[in-house]
Amino acid sequence: MFLEIAYVAAGSLAVSPFLPDKKMSHKKKLNIIFRRTGFMRELRDLYGNLKPKPPRFNGVNKTDRYTDYIYSIPLGLTLSENLDKSIIEAFDQPVKVTSVGGRLHIRFYPEDLPEKIPYVEVPKKSGWRIPVGASLDGWIYHNFEKIPHMTVAGTTRFGKTVFLKTTLTYLTENQSEDVRFHIIDMKGGLEFGPYEKMKQVVKVGSDVGEAAELLENIKKDIERKMRYFKRKGYNNIVNTPIKTRNFIIVDEAAQLTPDKHTDPEVKKIMGKCQSNLSEIARVSGALGYRLIFCTQYPTGDTLPRQVKQNADGKISFRLPTGTASRVAIDENGAEYLPNPGRAIYRTHERDIVQVPMLEDDEMKRRLKPFITEEKAVVESGRSSNKNVSGAEGDNIMEFGYD
Ligand SMILES: Nc1ncnc2c1ncn2[C@@H]1O[C@H](COP(=O)(O)OP(=O)(O)OP(=O)(O)O)[C@@H](O)[C@H]1O
Ligand SMILES: [Mg+2]
Repeated sequence: MFLEIAYVAAGSLAVSPFLPDKKMSHKKKLNIIFRRTGFMRELRDLYGNLKPKPPRFNGVNKTDRYTDYIYSIPLGLTLSENLDKSIIEAFDQPVKVTSVGGRLHIRFYPEDLPEKIPYVEVPKKSGWRIPVGASLDGWIYHNFEKIPHMTVAGTTRFGKTVFLKTTLTYLTENQSEDVRFHIIDMKGGLEFGPYEKMKQVVKVGSDVGEAAELLENIKKDIERKMRYFKRKGYNNIVNTPIKTRNFIIVDEAAQLTPDKHTDPEVKKIMGKCQSNLSEIARVSGALGYRLIFCTQYPTGDTLPRQVKQNADGKISFRLPTGTASRVAIDENGAEYLPNPGRAIYRTHERDIVQVPMLEDDEMKRRLKPFITEEKAVVESGRSSNKNVSGAEGDNIMEFGYD
């Protein structure tokens, strides 16, 4: 089993007053930490009494990127958040603690991640993968064919919209023929409005009413697609000739959550948006929809249960508290992220990454060639004659707003 507990940039946490001397060897320091956190095995002495001993040391693996200290995990013990945090706080260099197949790996890196990585440095990948960011072990990609839905959390100004913009740009550049975007931009369309003219962008909804209409149309399309899939005997789009993928991007979902001051009529519309989003998350992945659901304030209200349960990819930028972190990614850690663009990416594994930075000017320059007269759909009524599915003759798959 692979379990990665945590890595937080060294120096970002308060320093414990019980730290061992800085000049001590790594091994010696680790033994003190093992003792103080109770991560010890037991051996019998000459008189048959059980005595605590540090875990068995298996050696050091040095590569050009890291130095790994490897220990056997004593039987009956597991890697705890306490041990992990104690190790991270004790060293003034980046360190990652993982457990793999009964071994504890304590991996030291010579340098921390940079605070900014320009988008141009992202290595190109094919398929429906997008770059989440660079980790200390290399680039991490999210594969939407394997994990269709994703949540993105993070307090204001820590990089959610930049991440969404890198995703839109990367997918457009890589999959220009087959990608479709349906964007809810609750900042009044300020962030994504300029891209509505792109062939790949079906619609940018910029207020509650437009969001509701967009989601209602998607729901109808999902119902049509379900009937079509049934007729054809398809169970998952990845096993069909259909090439199109529809991405629903929600930037600032908290704006779709009513509070006690919300007008009752608006409340009703927001309720409908929430239930449609839940339904989309529940059933649409196999039909080729990919939801990227983004929120500043992850709470039980702003992050509907169905959305969270069905989004197996979770990204969090810095959050104000451990409680918010647990709502967003099911564990503490996002409250310690040090700078904008630094994020925790969680699937069944966990990585700390620096998300690539895409400046608005560069995004505009890269996407300019995709702004054309030819749209995938006609916004005001009918779908175009373009077969969006990519499957010949399957015009049931066309997307249009009724
Ligand atoms: N990946 C990144 N690398 C370096 N800096 C970044 C990165 N992402 C964001 N920033 C910095 O943070 C600023 C705010 O980013 P962004 O607009 O994405 O925040 P946000 O989380 O969407 O905030 P809000 O919730 O207020 O909309 C950017 O203008 C940039 O200066
Ligand atoms: Mg934003």
